[in-house]
Amino acid sequence: MAKIKIFDTTLRDGEQSPGVNLNLAEKLVIAEQLEKLNVDIIEAGFPAASKGDFVSVQQIAKTIKNSSVTGLARAVTSDIDAAWDALKDGAEPRIHVFLATSPIHREYKLKLSKEQVVERAVAAVKYAAKRFPVIQWSAEDACRTELPFLAEIIEEVIQAGARIINIPDTVGYITPNEYGEVFQYLKNNVPSIDKVSLSTHCHDDLGMATANSLAAIENGATQVECTINGIGERAGNASMEEIVVALHIRNDHYQERTRINLKEISRSSSLVSELTGMVVPGNKAIVGRNAFAHESGIHQDGVLKEKTTYEIISPELVGYVNNNNMVLGKHSGSHAFKTKLKDLGLQVKDEDVKDLFIAFKDLADHKKEISDEDIIAIFLENKLAK
Ligand code: KIV
Ligand code: ZN
Repeated sequence: MAKIKIFDTTLRDGEQSPGVNLNLAEKLVIAEQLEKLNVDIIEAGFPAASKGDFVSVQQIAKTIKNSSVTGLARAVTSDIDAAWDALKDGAEPRIHVFLATSPIHREYKLKLSKEQVVERAVAAVKYAAKRFPVIQWSAEDACRTELPFLAEIIEEVIQAGARIINIPDTVGYITPNEYGEVFQYLKNNVPSIDKVSLSTHCHDDLGMATANSLAAIENGATQVECTINGIGERAGNASMEEIVVALHIRNDHYQERTRINLKEISRSSSLVSELTGMVVPGNKAIVGRNAFAHESGIHQDGVLKEKTTYEIISPELVGYVNNNNMVLGKHSGSHAFKTKLKDLGLQVKDEDVKDLFIAFKDLADHKKEISDEDIIAIFLENKLAK
């Protein structure tokens, strides 16, 4: 049974959430947490989009060792050059090139014919192949593209050197059955399909991003693109925590389906929520405040007798720990402080803990109760000062 690769795009599509703007230090902290979570690929940003994005992708590529780092590029040489400059010092430089294929995008956005779209996609992949060992190509708005044309362009980009083919449901329009059929169609109609890995990338406009991602996996996708807490454009992207926990809980196979360290999920969720300012709804699956809460008498009685009556997932599985609601203030010691840093997913070298602790005590002298936001702010200030 093929392992499913987790491609995290919190720092690219996730950062495209309206109102979210992460600085370099914040992006680095999230990337380090994603590495701890054991994601296979981190999409660190869109290097040609801005100087800030370029520098973040570059720094993340240099820092992260146990996950591959990639960056997005339009099918134009200047974007591919920017991506190379940002990613070349990474462990395994990998580019993600995209071009829209649907009739709506061809006519209104690109103003290109089908032939011109194929030509541009092939030229971009060939250009990227001169430098990048690994090339992923995405057919933007794939799910509203004529299937014969989708199959044709995919065959052409594979011939040009693409090794991962991503089928985005860019506007969150498709249903699980239909999405599965798209993957089946491509498997039967793209002659070189066996040379590549197929990837899924779903948006949640109709609330089906997780179901669609799982349907893609059932029909041959071996890579899933997703974000922590499902943040992303409009209604967001597929939620990583929902997909990986579903693959764990509903796994009929002997081996785990992903490499994800499930115990890091709660920490990753709170970190991303704190840094992006995007509050996780209480009823959100896996990471919402109420995900493991029981209110009705019948349910409480059942759970007290036997947890599995109403709980299919244990909170411990995804890293929720009872930390005794420790409140940090001026009387707190370094043990509690270090525990709090760890619970928040903040990785601090031993030699830096002392400086952070001094900054914490200074603040605690003026402020009665120190919040998680205060601890993160102290951490980020220290990181930026380095
Ligand atoms: O949703 C989308 O189509 C994208 C592509 C750039 C992969 O995010
Ligand atoms: Zn997207």
